Amino acid sequence: MKRVFSGIQPTGNLHLGNYLGAIRNWVRMQDEAECIFSVVDLHAITVAQDPATLRRGIREMVAALIAAGLDPERCILFPQSRVRVHAELAWVLMCTARVGWLNRMTQFKEKSGKDREGASVGLYTYPVLQAADILAYRATHVPVGEDQKQHLELARDIAIKFNNDFGPSFGGELFPPPEPVIEGPATRVMSLRDGSAKMSKSDPSDQSRINLTDDADTIAAKIKRAKTDPEALPSEPAGLAGRAEATNLVNLMAALTDRSIAQVLADHGGQGFGAFKPALADVMVAKLAPITARFNALKDDASAIEAICARGADRARAIAEPVLADVHRAVGFTA
Ligand code: TYM
Repeated sequence: MKRVFSGIQPTGNLHLGNYLGAIRNWVRMQDEAECIFSVVDLHAITVAQDPATLRRGIREMVAALIAAGLDPERCILFPQSRVRVHAELAWVLMCTARVGWLNRMTQFKEKSGKDREGASVGLYTYPVLQAADILAYRATHVPVGEDQKQHLELARDIAIKFNNDFGPSFGGELFPPPEPVIEGPATRVMSLRDGSAKMSKSDPSDQSRINLTDDADTIAAKIKRAKTDPEALPSEPAGLAGRAEATNLVNLMAALTDRSIAQVLADHGGQGFGAFKPALADVMVAKLAPITARFNALKDDASAIEAICARGADRARAIAEPVLADVHRAVGFTA
């Protein structure tokens, strides 16, 4: 059976990288499999958060996901902290994961930066909690952007080691090793200011990203100011080699209009950015405006959002609690 799990942190706005790299695939998968999506607030506190801002961020992320097309009737949508299994299973899996495995995680190195000694222990063990998120539901498929690939390999390694350690005495495989789903022409959307950095919620420059809450004028202005080179667009993909910023904008056009890179270049090759950028801004606005409108209509309806979170968490618990009970039996806590 195919079961899908994925998560997003409730810090900052949903941006175009999240949407094209992951959320769009979540929306599509709702019709193909049982889907479970979580706003991962336990992950958010691995770095300092202001409680009031976090509270609002969780509510707004739930609203943004629904605005982007998640349907709480067709998927399970909930904030991670409401289902205690995530934290409890993470502890058990921390005893399966090896220090050497975590030491290889590039995201910890990037996020802890020069002050590794001052980073929280939670930031270091973050990928084990991520594995617990997935394995608590015995999820088989995990739709994410390219940047999560290494964490998913770790989740697979943890699943396999846990199965090897406890499967024989338990009498069967505890966890199916989950598979990443990294699909589409925009699995790594780059910053509009720097083609070598990914578009990110934590980039201090708001000019670097398109937020799903940006209005048409803001989007047009950000695209107009996006960094490019002076050359015209090539007619073939090979001509994009070494042109990171141009590649990023062409990828965005392809993803937003459901065309391949080759098709976009067949249509726009020879154009300079003076012509291509307004065309890109137009398709972006057309795609995002309905999402923004739905988000604005829902974001302040605290009771509707609360009802969705409560019901999603109940449904998530109903799947995850029996899995944790199996884990407790497998390791020897219960008979
Ligand atoms: P997060 O909150 O950073 O991002 C959410 C999703 O958006 C994708 N993404 C991007 N895709 C393309 N281009 C970009 N510039 C870009 N930026 C972000 C991410 O790959 C992700 O799919 N650790 C995860 C959250 C998480 C999770 C999980 C994911 C917690 N538990 C279990 C999958 C399964 C994270 O911080 O995503």
